[in-house]
Amino acid sequence: MKQTLTLALSKGRILDDTLPLLAAADIHPLEDIRSSRKLIFDTNHEHLKLIVIRATDVPTYVEYGAADMGIAGKDVLMEHGAQEMYEPVDLEIAKCRLMTAGVKGAAPVVGRRLKVATKFVNVAKAYYAEQGIQADVIKLYGAMELAPLMGLADKIVDIVDTGNTLRANGLQPEELIADISSRMVVGKASMKMKYRLIEPILERLQAAVVANR
Ligand code: ADP
Ligand code: PRP
Ligand code: MG
Repeated sequence: MKQTLTLALSKGRILDDTLPLLAAADIHPLEDIRSSRKLIFDTNHEHLKLIVIRATDVPTYVEYGAADMGIAGKDVLMEHGAQEMYEPVDLEIAKCRLMTAGVKGAAPVVGRRLKVATKFVNVAKAYYAEQGIQADVIKLYGAMELAPLMGLADKIVDIVDTGNTLRANGLQPEELIADISSRMVVGKASMKMKYRLIEPILERLQAAVVANR
């Protein structure tokens, strides 16, 4: 039976950096992903299909084996807890930092639990637990920078790149939790069953990463 391979791409900002890297690795979708409403694309490789999904859904597809491979931010992988997959290539794209941030000049919180707003609930809980700080973590889906300004939280845990979003809202970056970039992930079962197909793709992608430096 002919084996097929599925690679799940994160839509949004990672996609813009992913497509040139795929092209450099000789992986070409047969139609323009960005101008199409389709979610599944054939490529110049007969056995390889691309699917385009929300960044946070990539580890789920790979974990259940619905996609053999995926491209996702390290932040998303940390939050998901990506146990059922390997992370063989750091693609060195969509680089940013996962940080804590708070209101500039705010008095330290004493005598009560710290309130932290974030979409990275698991990462935030683990981070504050590790610091020995008692924190209540409040789940948000976006615009975390607003939470301290409205009194919803003392701190946020969010992505920082230029720092412009924090600055524009009177916040300052505080502690670094992790340096972030996008990673190629491969499901453990797929790696075992389809290694012959996957290995050359990983090699070409790694070479494209080096050429992109
Ligand atoms: P979302 O809608 O989930 O915010 P994005 O497309 O904005 O999706 O971000 C996808 C990924 O890109 C994030 O998981 C992170 O790894 C990375 N990222 C997010 N914001 C930035 C940024 N400002 N600069 C660089 N990389 C970023
Ligand atoms: C991301 C992130 C920060 C901002 C950081 O938001 O959530 O808000 O970028 O980048 P900066 O340090 O360069 O300002 P994004 O633009 O992806 O908006 P979103 O809320 O829709 O995710
Ligand atoms: Mg975003």
